[in-house]
Amino acid sequence: MRMISPIIFTISLLLSSACHAAVQDFCVADLTAPQSLVGYPCKKPETVTVNDFVYSGLGVAGNTSKLKVAVTWVTVPEFPALNGLGISLARADLAVGGVFPIHTHPRATEAIIVLEGKVTAGFISSANTVYYKTLKQGDAMIFPQGLPHFVVNAGATPVQVFVSFSSASPGLQVLDYALFSNDFPSELEAATTFLDIPQIKKLKAFFGGTG
Ligand SMILES: *[C@@H]1O[C@H](CO)[C@@H](O)[C@H](O)[C@H]1NC(C)=O
Repeated sequence: MRMISPIIFTISLLLSSACHAAVQDFCVADLTAPQSLVGYPCKKPETVTVNDFVYSGLGVAGNTSKLKVAVTWVTVPEFPALNGLGISLARADLAVGGVFPIHTHPRATEAIIVLEGKVTAGFISSANTVYYKTLKQGDAMIFPQGLPHFVVNAGATPVQVFVSFSSASPGLQVLDYALFSNDFPSELEAATTFLDIPQIKKLKAFFGGTG
C-alpha cells in the first residue's frame, strides 16, 4: 500500500495532463463549423496534410508605423492545427519608442523570447510586487497567467519578440482600454478608482471613451 499510492498518484497525474489528447493525436479545426466551448470540430483526418501543421508568416514584421507596436497573432483562426492543443503563438514588433501597455491574458501564461533588440519587460503579482528587467536578444521571460504585464522597447533599434501562450485562446485586456475606452459613467469610475473626474475625462478623450 505504501508503494502503491505514489504510483497511482503519478499515473493519475500523467492521465490528467494527457487527457485532452487521449482519444486522438490532433483535431485540426474545421473553421467552417461553429465553435463550441471546447473549440472547433475536427477536419476529417483523411483531408489533413503536413501543411495543416505548418504556419508561415512569422518572418514578416507587423506594421508599427501607426502605434509603434504591432502584434501578429497565431491562434486557431490563423493556424487551425492549434485547436484543442492548449497553446498559441504571436510575434510582437516594437519600433523605437514603442510600448505594449499594461495588459492581461485572463486565460494563459505567456512566455516571450527576445529575437532582436532590447526590451524592459515586467509583470505585477497579486501581492502587488513589480518584477521587471531589461532583456537582451536571446533572453526569455514568463508572465504568469492573468497577471498585468508590459513590454517597452528599451533600445535604439526595432524590437522583435516571439510569444507563446498556454492557451489556444489567451484573451487580451488592456488596462487603459478597460478603464477609458467605454461608456463607464465617469462619476462611478471616479468613485471606484479614486481618480479625479477631470483626469478620467482627459483619458477618455484620448482612448475613445464617453460618459
Ligand atoms: C502601415 O500602416 C500605415 C498607417 O496605418 C499605412 O499608411 C501604410 O501603408 C502601412 N504600410 C504597409 C507596408 O502596409
